[in-house]
This record gives sequence, structure tokens and C-alpha cells, in this order.
Amino acid sequence: MEIHIVENAETGAKVVADVFARTLAEAGESGTVLGLATGSSPVPAYAELIRRHREEGLSFARSRAFLLDEYVGLPAGHEQSYHHFIRENFTAHIDIDDAAVVSPDGASADPVAEAASYDRRLRDAGGVDLQILGIGSNGHIAFNEPGSSLGSRTRVVGLARSTIEDNARYFASADDVPVRALSQGLGTILEARRIVLTATGQGKADAVAQLAEGAISARWPATALQMHPDVTVVVDEAAAAKLE
Ligand code: F6R
Repeated sequence: MEIHIVENAETGAKVVADVFARTLAEAGESGTVLGLATGSSPVPAYAELIRRHREEGLSFARSRAFLLDEYVGLPAGHEQSYHHFIRENFTAHIDIDDAAVVSPDGASADPVAEAASYDRRLRDAGGVDLQILGIGSNGHIAFNEPGSSLGSRTRVVGLARSTIEDNARYFASADDVPVRALSQGLGTILEARRIVLTATGQGKADAVAQLAEGAISARWPATALQMHPDVTVVVDEAAAAKLE
């Protein structure tokens, strides 16, 4: 695990964007499968990638993208759906084909079957070349809350109370936050060939310390990343404050 402690989110965004640029360049003509996270943490990196696309010609034309997760019950067109979020904050502003940006269907009548089918679609695409991750204050990655099996696959999960409270800022109230999600599992995420995780702020300090230095345990799901051979962690000083 390579840890970068950066001055601020903008500097961190450049480090994350460099990992994207390197992965895109390595794939060349064959194209890249990107794994995308939503939430606030990757937004500065997405802004930097949009800038590099517009000003430096960084192209995503041959890329496909799979989202980490989606709220159960929110249709693609819903303002708070992750389907909508990723387009608004990233993919509508670059040259990726919109049909190549895939997320679990939160409105599926059969979420359990949808989860299994999503996992299959990821495998059929050849797996993820680069997965970007945020981290929850409770150590979740995607919506793998504490207690998630380290080998878990894409499935229907219940959101922790702390996650509902953390995400209430996007909704009118905590009561409006969906309580279930479709989420890639920890085992699914670990199959990505390269991973970059980014976090800022003191609210993430405990989770970041566990991620890097804690014992591998379902209690802190992000500790599963210690088993992966190619993980870059980009954090500001506040998020790094509890590292030894
Ligand atoms: C989002 C996701 C979540 C977030 C995490 C941090 O697709 O899977 O794990 O990355 O909740 O959220 P922010 O970045 O908003 O603090």
C-alpha cells in the first residue's frame, strides 16, 4: 500500500488523476475498465480529470465504467441516484460513451437477481483495471458496512445508521435516505487490478488509520485492501492524523 499525504484536496486530485492517466496509457488501444465511486471524496479528482480531458486531450473514448453501488429504490433518473451523480459530476463531461457507464439498477423488481447479474457483467467485461474508492467514517468501502465478509460479492446490503446520517446531507432528511443498497462486495472490489482510495478530513482519520495499520477484520472492511498488491491511498493531513 502506497500512502500519499497531501496538503489539500486539489493536490490529492492530481495524484489520483495521475493514477488514472497511467492506467489509461497502459491499456492503449484495448481500452480500460474503470470502477467509479460516488460521494464527495472523488469529486476533486473527477474535476481534475475533466480538466485534463478538456485542456490536455486525455481521452476516455475507449473506456467502460462500472459503479460501485446504487441505492435500492431509486430509479436511474432520481436526483440522488448514483446513476445520476456520476453523470453530473464526471462522465457527462468527458468523452466516454454514456451507454458504457453501468450501475446496478436500484429500481429492479428483483434486487437479489440484479446483484448477481451485476457481478456477472463485471466479470464478463474482464474485470476492473482501476477502481477508485472513498471510505466511510466507519471504514466501509462501497457499502460494505462493518461485519461484511471479506470475500463478499455484489449483493443487497443494509446501510449502517452512521452511513445514513453521513449521507443525509444529500437528502431533505435522514428519513429520506434509502436504507438498502446494491453494493459490490469486498471480494468483488479486491479483483480490481489497481485501486486508488482517497479521503480528506478528520472524520476519516480513524478509518484511514485502521485501513493502513489495523488488523484485517470485518470490523473495519477497508482493512481488506491490505491484501491487495496495488493500492494507492491519497489523504490530506487531517485524514492522516491518526496514522502512526
Ligand atoms: C460511494 C461509496 C461510499 C463512499 C463513502 C465515502 O460510491 O461507495 O463508500 O465512498 O461513503 O463517502 P464521501 O466521499 O461522501 O465521504
